[in-house]
Amino acid sequence: TGRQRIAVIAGDGIGTEVMPEGVRVLRAAADVFGLSLEFTEFDFASAEYYERHGDMLPEDWFETLSAFDAIYFGAVGWPDRVPDHISLWGSLLKFRRGFDQYVNLRPCRLMPGIPSPLAGREPGDIDFYVVRENTEGEYSSVGGIMFEGTDREVVLQETVMSRTGVDRILDFAFELADRRPARHLTSATKSNGISITMPWWDSRVREAGRRFPEVRLDQYHIDILTANFVLHPDRFDVVVASNLFGDILSDLGPACTGTIGVAPSANINPSREFPSLFEPVHGSAPDIAGRGIANPIGQIWSGAMMLEHLGHEDAAAAVVSAIEAVLAKGARRSPLTPDIGGTGTTAELGAAIAEELGASALP
Ligand code: NAD
Ligand code: IPM
Ligand code: MN
Repeated sequence: TGRQRIAVIAGDGIGTEVMPEGVRVLRAAADVFGLSLEFTEFDFASAEYYERHGDMLPEDWFETLSAFDAIYFGAVGWPDRVPDHISLWGSLLKFRRGFDQYVNLRPCRLMPGIPSPLAGREPGDIDFYVVRENTEGEYSSVGGIMFEGTDREVVLQETVMSRTGVDRILDFAFELADRRPARHLTSATKSNGISITMPWWDSRVREAGRRFPEVRLDQYHIDILTANFVLHPDRFDVVVASNLFGDILSDLGPACTGTIGVAPSANINPSREFPSLFEPVHGSAPDIAGRGIANPIGQIWSGAMMLEHLGHEDAAAAVVSAIEAVLAKGARRSPLTPDIGGTGTTAELGAAIAEELGASALP
């Protein structure tokens, strides 16, 4: 295949620590599989860039990033330096919307060697996808504050759902479920309390379901769904949700697999008109930043999702296998990070996965 160009944006906090490990493993995969990947680093979408330029991104960010085949992203946010809504609406959320990455695909899998906080759960018991709507819903800037600063203050923020926007995420989720052995889709809403948007989402789900007769459909209210994530995670295969509910489920699911540090995500523009963006589910973790102990697996696994998107299924599968092999050896033989019971560093764990990948390629 020809050369593929990847924009690398590490961002803030542990984003800058896990990103080098992600790139290290991608370079190892490129070596083993003979891929031609070209990495270009950018310093924008960070608190430091904001402090220097008064903005999170350069004016030409859209044209600049449009030229790439994919965006590899770390994490952004440093609330002590830039308010979160400014840094996130000024960067990551702009990418998702600007590049119409309407699918946020977040696998949630209990990996070998990582104990689940849920008693008795083994690898294989937890293995599902959260499909999160990524461009509309509860994340809207429609609203405002009336009578600001007075006792009569009223604050309003609207949820926006469009037929196109909801139907396209439901189609993606049904298609994914239809390709999986269990052929099971769960939809999360809150139709008893949120009386307009949520029953309407439910009706779009039922309509889409008619196009996928082989897929078994379950509909839950979000509150009891969160309880079932903990009590019966083995019941889920593909779970589709609005932007906010999908955000919450995609931290809860990985927590049930032992740590959010391993969870990957793909922000996909399925039409491929614009680049898709691959990033760990976790944030910049200011509480542990600078200590070199962040788990790099979420970043590395996101790199595997990027390889798959770029057409390199073999390389993607090899990266995931290398992650599993290193984890399966346990904390005594692998430099696992503290969140998964080891004393290893970010760089040691990244290097171990890159080495495993190289070794697996030897004849
Ligand atoms: P967070 O995900 O950064 O951290 C939550 C907790 O998980 C922390 O205790 C952290 O130490 C731990 N953790 C996270 N990733 C880890 C890893 N790889 N290894 C080990 N432990 C890990 O969430 P938060 O504290 O709510 O947010 C911190 C900042 O990150 C905020 O500015 C927030 O807005 C931002 N954020 C960004 C993204 C993103 O860029 N996609 C996602 C979530 C949060
Ligand atoms: C995520 C994050 C973001 C989101 C924040 C940082 C805006 O939590 O990627 O899950 O809510 O989408
Ligand atoms: Mn989140």
